[in-house]
Amino acid sequence: MDKLFIEGGKSLNGSVKISGAKNAALPLMAATLLAPGKHVLRNVPDLRDTRTLLKVMEELGATSERNGDVLTIDATHVNNYEASYELVRTMRASVLVLGPLVARLGRARVSRPGGCAIGDRPINLHVMGLEQLGATCIQESGYVDVKVDGRLTGNTIHFDLPSVTGTENLLMAAVLASGTTILKNAAKEPEIGNLVDMLLGMGAKIEGRDTDELIIHGVEELSPADCAIIPDRIEAGTYLIAIAATGGAGTVTNCIPEHLPALLNKLRATGLIIDEDENSISVSYPEGKGVADLQCIDIQTMPYPGYATDLQAQFMALMSLATGSAVIDETIFENRFMHVAELERMNAIIKIKGSTAVVTGKGEDGLVGAPVMATDLRASSSLVIAGLAATGKTEIRRIYHLERGYEKLVDKLTGLGAKVWKESS
Ligand code: EPU
Repeated sequence: MDKLFIEGGKSLNGSVKISGAKNAALPLMAATLLAPGKHVLRNVPDLRDTRTLLKVMEELGATSERNGDVLTIDATHVNNYEASYELVRTMRASVLVLGPLVARLGRARVSRPGGCAIGDRPINLHVMGLEQLGATCIQESGYVDVKVDGRLTGNTIHFDLPSVTGTENLLMAAVLASGTTILKNAAKEPEIGNLVDMLLGMGAKIEGRDTDELIIHGVEELSPADCAIIPDRIEAGTYLIAIAATGGAGTVTNCIPEHLPALLNKLRATGLIIDEDENSISVSYPEGKGVADLQCIDIQTMPYPGYATDLQAQFMALMSLATGSAVIDETIFENRFMHVAELERMNAIIKIKGSTAVVTGKGEDGLVGAPVMATDLRASSSLVIAGLAATGKTEIRRIYHLERGYEKLVDKLTGLGAKVWKESS
C-alpha cells in the first residue's frame, strides 16, 4: 500500500495549474450514456474516480479512449443496464448512471452505494424523483431496479434538500422524458451548470441554469457532445489553503475565481491577501506577517454558493495554525470530522460537539509531523496541508483516498517547493 511522506516546514511558493473538476467530470461522463455516438470531453482529470466510472461504463457497453486530457467515449453500443456492486461500492458517484440509463434504455439496475466514511449518504431523493417521472423503482438485494415502459414523463419534483448528484441524475433523466419537468430546490453547484451546458450542446432544452429551479423540456433524442470540464474549485481551494498554511505566496492558475466566493472571503478575513484575476487566484501575506498572525475565523458548510463541505477539513488544518479559536459547523454530512483525531496526533487542539468543531489555533507553537491515516478524500488533503506546515516528518497512510480526487498531487506540490514523496510497502 502506498504511503505519502512529507518533510514539513518549507513554504510553498510559485504557481500551480488546476485540473478539470472531478465532480464535474463524473456527471458529464455519465451523461454520454444518453446518446449513441462518439462524445468528446476535454480537460478530464485522470483520477482513480474517473477511471472507476469508465470501468462502470465499459460494463454497460461504452468504450473510451484517452489522449492527454481529452476523453472520447463511444456510447453507441450501450446495451447493459446493470452497474454491479463490485464497482459501485468503490465509488458511490457510480449512481450517476441511473438517470441516463433509464432515460436511454428504460431500465437501470444499479447497486445501492451504501454509506461511506463521511455519512450514510442515502439516494432516496434520486429514487423518489425517478418515481415521479413515471418509473417503477424496486429496491432489493442491495440493488435499485428502475423500469419504465417507453419514455419517462415530465413532472414537477421538489427536493427536500438540494442534492448535487440527485439534481444531476434527475436532470439527465428528464432531458429525454416526454413533456416538461421542473426541478425545484435543485442544487446550484457550478458542476451542475457544466452539465447543463453539455446537455444544451447535445440538443436538450433546459432553462434556469445556475438557479434552484431547472425547467427541462424533454426531447426525443440527443446528439453526441463536445464539452470541456470546468476547473476543479475544490482542488484550487486546497492549494490556496496549502500555500497559506506554509506561510508562502503563490497563484493557482486555470481556475474560475467566481466559483470560490465563500472560501475567498474567509481567507481574506483571516488576514491573507487574495488577488483574483480572470483565470487565477493569488494568495500572500501582508509585509512582515506570517502564519501565526492569521486570525481564526468561523465557517459553516452550506450548499453552493455557501462554504463548501469539500473545503471544510482543509480550512480546519489552517485554523489549527492560526491565532484565536474557530467554530467549524458541518451542516451537510453527519460524520465529516474523521480528520480531527488525525490532526490531534499532530498537536492540533480541536473539540467536537455534535456537528461543530472548535479549533484552538496554535499560533507560534505550530503543528508537528506524525504518522497519520487518511480516511476520506478531503480529510486526507487536510492532513497533507497539516504535514506541509508542521515541523518534522509526516507519514500519511491509505493515500488511495487522495488519488481519488487530486491529479498529480506529488508533482504539483513539488513544483511549489514542497518536500513530498510516495513510497510503496
Ligand atoms: N441526501 C439525502 N438523500 C439523497 C441525496 C442526498 O438525504 O437522496 C443528503 C445527503 O445525505 C447530504 C445532503 O443531502 O446530507 C447533500 O448531499 P448531496 O446529495 O448533495 O451529495 P452528493 O451528491 O452525494 C456531491 C459531491 C460530494 C460533495 C457533496 C456536497 C459528487 C460526485 N460528489 O455528493 O463530493 O461533498 O456533493 O457538496 O459530486 C468529494 O468530492 O470529496 C465529495 C464527497
